[in-house]
Amino acid sequence: MAERKTVVVIAGGDSPERAVSLSSGTQVYAALAQAGHTVRWLEISSLDDLVQGLPGADVAFNCLHGGSGEDGTIQVLFEVLDLPYVGSGPQASALAMDKLKSKAIFASKGLAVPKAHPYRGEGIESFSRSARAALGLPLVLKPCNQGSSLGVAVIEEESELVPAASSIFAEFGSVFAEQFIPGRELTVSVLLQDGVERVLPVVELVPKHRFYDYEAKYTEGVTDHVTPAPLDAETTQRVKEAGLAAHRMLGCYGFSRVDLRLGQDGVPYILEVNTLPGITPTSNLPAAAAAAGIPFVRLLEFMLESAFKEDSA
Ligand SMILES: Nc1ncnc2c1ncn2[C@@H]1O[C@H](COP(=O)(O)OP(=O)(O)O)[C@@H](O)[C@H]1O
Ligand SMILES: [Mg+2]
Repeated sequence: MAERKTVVVIAGGDSPERAVSLSSGTQVYAALAQAGHTVRWLEISSLDDLVQGLPGADVAFNCLHGGSGEDGTIQVLFEVLDLPYVGSGPQASALAMDKLKSKAIFASKGLAVPKAHPYRGEGIESFSRSARAALGLPLVLKPCNQGSSLGVAVIEEESELVPAASSIFAEFGSVFAEQFIPGRELTVSVLLQDGVERVLPVVELVPKHRFYDYEAKYTEGVTDHVTPAPLDAETTQRVKEAGLAAHRMLGCYGFSRVDLRLGQDGVPYILEVNTLPGITPTSNLPAAAAAAGIPFVRLLEFMLESAFKEDSA
């Protein structure tokens, strides 16, 4: 269509990933503007800011990460306002944000996931004891619904367990324990291109830290990104199939990035699906797209097309 659409790039938000969102949004805004799109910048701190900033926009490029921007809340608002928005709908967003629910879905449908041990309010000491007994050490503690590795801790020593679990629960309001998967760190992105869901080249992350933590994610030079991941053809295929299956099992739409660990047994263990993956300078979705020959602005245009679900569904 020749008609010019006003794209509102939404960034900021009130989640702990606000800074990451501003970084994603800044890149997206600049690239779309430079490519000649009509773009408007909307930095928000609350849902109120969002509602006030939307009139006149034709499509929302949601660059929020975490919290109400990614957990389905804002997606419901877009639906109510009948404003096209990039990416997954409310239900898939909510499922993907909930690591325990999404893992239960993957496991029930035959995908490998690390064993999980949820906290059921029995007291942190009792939880820690039973998690240790069920999973051994090292184990991973994380909040149920955060991102950017916030609150994620790899516990090597028994003495670290209770203090770490207590502080994660106090800070984020939830915690669970997960089997530590030794092996390689991979991420695989799905992108809808002209109506076909395609899996982009697998990215391997080789952090200089113990794991792919916040600093390893966003500080230039702390992680080596290897794209495409140096895996044999069969393993590459297995990883891509697992990623696409995870995306589909949650009902994701348009794009997502699936984080996984390739175990020493060669099995891809799904960690989580990100429905609004980072688009910062060190992010993996743009790197994967580039490796597939998709320039950054073309990636953004495919993402924008996902806003017009009726047209392509
Ligand atoms: N079960 C696990 N085994 C080994 N490493 C893990 C495990 N779970 C998480 N990690 C490490 O922590 C990082 C963040 O975990 P993830 O579940 O993807 O949460 P987030 O939503 O914060 O990205 C992973 O990329 C990985 O480096
Ligand atoms: Mg992750």
